[in-house]
Amino acid sequence: MSPYSALAVVVLAGGWCLCAADVGDFAPCLQFFYKSWPPKGPSGTPICQRFNNQYRFATLYSRPRRSPWFSAYVYSVPAGKRPSASWKFEPQLAYPGAEGNMIPFPPGPLDQNVVESQAVDQDYINSTYSRGHLNPSLHHQSRENRSATFTLTNIVPQKVGSNDGPWELLEDSVSKTLAAFCLGEAYIITGIIPYLNEDRWLKNHRVAVPEYIWSAYCCPNYNNSLPAILKDAFPTYAAIGRNDRNSTEEIVPISEKTKKQFRGYDVRQMPLETLEMYLKDRFKTVVSVFYEQCSGSD
Ligand SMILES: *[C@@H]1O[C@H](CO)[C@@H](O)[C@H](O)[C@H]1NC(C)=O
Ligand SMILES: *[C@@H]1O[C@H](CO)[C@@H](O)[C@H](O)[C@H]1NC(C)=O
Ligand SMILES: *[C@@H]1O[C@H](CO)[C@@H](O)[C@H](O)[C@H]1NC(C)=O
Ligand SMILES: *[C@@H]1O[C@H](CO)[C@@H](O)[C@H](O)[C@H]1NC(C)=O
Repeated sequence: MSPYSALAVVVLAGGWCLCAADVGDFAPCLQFFYKSWPPKGPSGTPICQRFNNQYRFATLYSRPRRSPWFSAYVYSVPAGKRPSASWKFEPQLAYPGAEGNMIPFPPGPLDQNVVESQAVDQDYINSTYSRGHLNPSLHHQSRENRSATFTLTNIVPQKVGSNDGPWELLEDSVSKTLAAFCLGEAYIITGIIPYLNEDRWLKNHRVAVPEYIWSAYCCPNYNNSLPAILKDAFPTYAAIGRNDRNSTEEIVPISEKTKKQFRGYDVRQMPLETLEMYLKDRFKTVVSVFYEQCSGSD
C-alpha cells in the first residue's frame, strides 16, 4: 500500500484523521474561528493553510471531491490590487510526512501523488468553470496573505457569471460593511452547498462542482450607530449565491433586475439562522457555523 492510499483509507473511514502537522487537525490554526470553535456539521480533512511558515487561514477539505467544504479566515481591510499570484498546492495532502507549507506548482510534469490528492491547473483549463476563491484575496491586506489564497484547496468550480457578478459584489459589499462598522475581529467562513442527489463534476470527473456558495461573518464588536440599511447586518449575517442558472428558485430566487449575463447567479442575503436551516436540509445534519451563533455573549 502506498503512503497515499493508506492515508486515503484512514480519511475515508474516519472522516477526521490525525495525520501529519497541518492536515487532519485544526488545532494549530484555531485563531481563524470565532472563539476557536470550528463549524459543526460537514466532515472532511482540516487543513491549516500555511504559506512561508505562517498560518494564513483554515480549510475543511474534501478528498473525494478534491475541493473544499469551507474556508475560514479573519478579515482585514484590503489595500492595493489583486495579486497575480501563482497557483499552489499542498504537498502534505499527497505525502503525510511532507512539510506543511503550500508551494507553487512547478513547471513541467507533476508528481502523480499530488495529482491524485488534489485539483491541479489542468482540471480547470478548458472547463466551463472559473476558479472561485472561498477565501478571497481581496479580504486581506498584505501581499503574502493575498497570495496564500491562491491554493487550489481554497478553490471551487464557479461559473464566471457568479464569480465576476453577484458573488463579487457580495464580497465587495461585505468588505465595505466590515471596514466601516466592525471594530474588532471579523471572522468569515465561506463554503459550498453540494447538489442534492447526484454530484456534478468538472470535465474529467475529478473535481466536484457546488450548486451554491454560501458565506457568513461574525463581528461581535461593532459600531452601534448603524445606518438603517445595516441594522440587521451585525453581529452576524449570511448569504447564499447560485452557481447554476438551472437551479430551482426555492433557496435563491432569480431577479428580473439582474443584468442579463449575471441573471441566474443571484445572491440572497439572509440571517445566519436561515443559512443554517438550508445547510441542515442539504447536509442532513445540524450545521452550526459560529459558536452560539455569534451572539456576542462573552
Ligand atoms: C496575515 O494574516 C495573518 C492571519 O490572519 C495575520 O495574523 C497577519 O496579521 C496578517 N498580516 C498582515 C501584514 O496583514
Ligand atoms: C485546451 O483546449 C485547447 C484547444 O482545444 C487544446 O489545445 C489544449 O490542449 C487544451 N488543454 C487542456 C489542458 O486540456
Ligand atoms: C461609529 O459610526 C458613526 C457614524 O457613522 C461615526 O460617526 C463614529 O465615528 C463611529 N465610531 C467608531 C468608534 O468608529
Ligand atoms: C442548464 O440547462 C441547459 C438547457 O437544458 C443546459 O444546456 C445547460 O447545460 C444546463 N446548465 C447546467 C450548469 O447544468
